[in-house]
Amino acid sequence: KTWTTKQRYATYDTYSKKELDRLQKLQRDSKWHLAYHLQPKSGLMNDPNGFTYINGEWRLAYQNFPFGPVHGLKSWENLVSNDLQNWRYIGSGLQPHAPYSMQGVYSGSGLAQGERQFLMYTGNVRTEDGGRISTQLGAWVEPDGELHELSQPLISGQPNGYTAHFRDPQILERDGRYYAILGAQREDKRGTILVYSAERPEGPWQLDGPLDFGFDSLGYMIECPNLAFVDGSVVLIFCPQGLDQSVCAYDNIYPNMYIVADDIDWASRKLVNPGPLHNLDVGFDCYAAQVVNEPNDHAHLISWMGLPDTTYASDEEDWQGCYSLARELHVIGKRLKQLPMMDSLIGAQMPVANATIDLVSVLHFEWQIGVDETLVVGNSKEQLRLKFNDTGVTVDRSGVASSNADDFGKTRSVPLVAGKHSADLYLDRSCFELYVDDGAGVLSGRYFPEDATNWTLKQAADTQVAVTGHKTKSIF
Ligand code: FRU
Repeated sequence: KTWTTKQRYATYDTYSKKELDRLQKLQRDSKWHLAYHLQPKSGLMNDPNGFTYINGEWRLAYQNFPFGPVHGLKSWENLVSNDLQNWRYIGSGLQPHAPYSMQGVYSGSGLAQGERQFLMYTGNVRTEDGGRISTQLGAWVEPDGELHELSQPLISGQPNGYTAHFRDPQILERDGRYYAILGAQREDKRGTILVYSAERPEGPWQLDGPLDFGFDSLGYMIECPNLAFVDGSVVLIFCPQGLDQSVCAYDNIYPNMYIVADDIDWASRKLVNPGPLHNLDVGFDCYAAQVVNEPNDHAHLISWMGLPDTTYASDEEDWQGCYSLARELHVIGKRLKQLPMMDSLIGAQMPVANATIDLVSVLHFEWQIGVDETLVVGNSKEQLRLKFNDTGVTVDRSGVASSNADDFGKTRSVPLVAGKHSADLYLDRSCFELYVDDGAGVLSGRYFPEDATNWTLKQAADTQVAVTGHKTKSIF
């Protein structure tokens, strides 16, 4: 089905409850329904939003177009967890409406304020002539979940010298002052990040100016900027679009990147001693990661395992997108380590040699640089290949249906230096995540096997790669 602009932005009341039930059933009954990764109840899931720790729980909203696998009219759907592993869907959150979010509730963040949560997010309006109006909005969420949207915008329109590509505020509180960083595009079509500040979450918000993160601008637009406060460092995580490959190489249509700095100086809006750009996840489908900086001194991240302007095999079942596992962040030098939050979901050990591999499991590999081997996980028709050699570890998904992003290559690699290495491959029914050397390298992606039966692990009889396996628990 092709979706016209009019169809994509049709209000939700155009659809019947029966249609929504049908779409939710399609997702639930899908052979690609995930066992322990967050996925939409129906339709398209994109950016993680409103990630907040409050009253001993993590809250997260997923951005959603409930009625198809396309970027239509967006709203937020709420989730909650006590451990960042077991999640519960708790109903709908922010909904699009007049006058500021008529064509979608776009991305934003959350901040705990005592027992209440403050949300700061972007309202999207499309004008008749194809233009857009971006408004930064606010809302309080009461302890019982009741939502109170502020009637007045926090920030109306973009400042002079910038286009309406102005969105995705991350709200922060530092030393008693509130800050918001936003993705922005200058009139000369360069991507940048703007800093605003206020005495209270409700404002008034004042423009402080662009953030100096070691570059004057990157690409033509920056989406979803986040600051994470990790192990005494400050990490800027963001999505530059149209980034020149010579600045930092990447494989996907748009990358999700980060920079580790020693600190941030809010007075001069400058990252202190910023390191180089790095890809957050060198896999196939990582975008729009969002960070939660609470509780004290802990930072976690969840990314969208999906990309803008990309179609996936599950589109035929009218749904698209999932999320990475929540990852605990650490900094070593000027690099991130990302540890998947999984301990409560690891089940019994399972045999891997001459045994069938359930696609709700984790495989652990140990090897030494110097080996040159390919391990095949799959059946006679469909396979994921893992290549271990002198340059690192490579995942090849050419043997299994994936997405139209195949134009961007079917293999991805984590480069490694000499010595001993280990990796964990989390397999779920339509996504995988490979964490190398305790999360020093991360490579995740989608795959869509037609037939998940009779999958096995094939490796050479004289293999030098030690493999063990565990089943993982299902939460959905
Ligand atoms: C990133 C993004 C954000 C925007 C949202 C709209 O994927 O484009 O910049 O707020 O998605 O759905």
